[in-house]
Amino acid sequence: MNAIMEHHPSAPVIPLSVARNPGPLRGSIRVPGDKSISHRALMLASLASGRTVVTGLLEGEDVLRTADAMRALGATITRETDRWVIEGKGVGALNEPDDVLDMGNSGTAARLLSGILSSHAITSFMTGDASLRSRPMRRVTQPLSANGACFATRHGEKLPMAIIGTGEAAPIAYRLPVASAQVKSAILLAGLNATGRTKVEEPVATRDHTENMLRHFGVEVEVGLTPTGGRIITLQGPARLAARDVVVPADPSSAAFPIVAACLVPGSEVRLPGIGLNPLRTGLFTTLREMGASLEIENERIEGGEPVGDLVVRASALQGVDVPANRAPSMIDEYPVLAVACAFANGTSRLRGLEELRVKESDRLSATVALLKANGATVRVEGDDMIIEGRGGAEGLGGGLVETRMDHRLAMSAIVFGLAAEKPVMVDDTGFINTSFPGFVSLMTALGAAL
Ligand code: S3P
Repeated sequence: MNAIMEHHPSAPVIPLSVARNPGPLRGSIRVPGDKSISHRALMLASLASGRTVVTGLLEGEDVLRTADAMRALGATITRETDRWVIEGKGVGALNEPDDVLDMGNSGTAARLLSGILSSHAITSFMTGDASLRSRPMRRVTQPLSANGACFATRHGEKLPMAIIGTGEAAPIAYRLPVASAQVKSAILLAGLNATGRTKVEEPVATRDHTENMLRHFGVEVEVGLTPTGGRIITLQGPARLAARDVVVPADPSSAAFPIVAACLVPGSEVRLPGIGLNPLRTGLFTTLREMGASLEIENERIEGGEPVGDLVVRASALQGVDVPANRAPSMIDEYPVLAVACAFANGTSRLRGLEELRVKESDRLSATVALLKANGATVRVEGDDMIIEGRGGAEGLGGGLVETRMDHRLAMSAIVFGLAAEKPVMVDDTGFINTSFPGFVSLMTALGAAL
């Protein structure tokens, strides 16, 4: 209990029992800002010269940790009613923090910030909560060491760690061994204060919010395609960022929960305005459509340099699906809730290439299997694939206790399961939902969810 509480003082442990929803989910809700884009907005605005105004920022625990860290590095960050104002320090001009940087539950904050710190002439110390302290940091410390920075980690390359950055960073050239936007971004951000050309090759394209936002702040970023569908991203350092206002779209990964709930609860019709539709994030929407979901996009437009649209989802009978491994980066955070949808679908689903799920906020591969099994679904793992035998309805499903394992997305997936299942689902702790989706319970209640 203490480990769970230590970094979420505002989020008490709240067990919940979710029974089948008595009626359809209906209405329109605005889900909070995109987590990936919110972290990047605070980091890049802090590295820019001048004043940036951010609207739509996610005010979840993860992003608030990034705000605290950037303040500790010298940026001025204030919340003014519905917007955030950042006075940047400029690339190369960050202050040495006088205390340990605590990144809470956030792998994105820890990895991206490691890149920035590696190419500044300061020494810093970084830690996180029990979940983050168990996650691998070698994927960033190993490539970042090539610029001259030194990292001292705990055994197994885990946090806490010390980062001795260099003011004379060499540019890094690196081919990603795993599809990870966090690793790509860490190297690109390190390159902002290195002299020369930083180059990252990714075998499979991952979310490109860092590239898009660097361009938005005036940095020239080149993107080339490899013959096998990957990307090569280059930038020239040292770079100067000019402050530019940022509009954060609503998070498609958060929208995934009300979307799947609306698909599964009979008679539902839910509208979600302003959802980010970056094609490197929309794998779940493609997959749900393949399953027969009624998911319409209206009013597509560009906001703050990212495509957005209003989603309308209606309940429908879902079929099993075969999801190819190369789609994983575009829906990596959506597998737990997709697995819930598959448990209610008609027929077998195979979700391929899920090895990265093992190193998320929890081991999401085993945690999702446990969630489903505890609630009567038939599921197994073969290698890195998850195979779910769908029930073709709610009958016999539910009745289990789900351990959230300090993982916000597991807690929300379990709640979605409970709304659709025949028997109530128990969730041991919903406090971690605040890391990415503050207001989740009240927004779902506004749609008619009986929570
Ligand atoms: C993120 C990248 C993904 C994702 C995470 C956010 C980002 O992680 O799971 O929630 O903002 O770059 P990986 O890069 O480890 O796949």
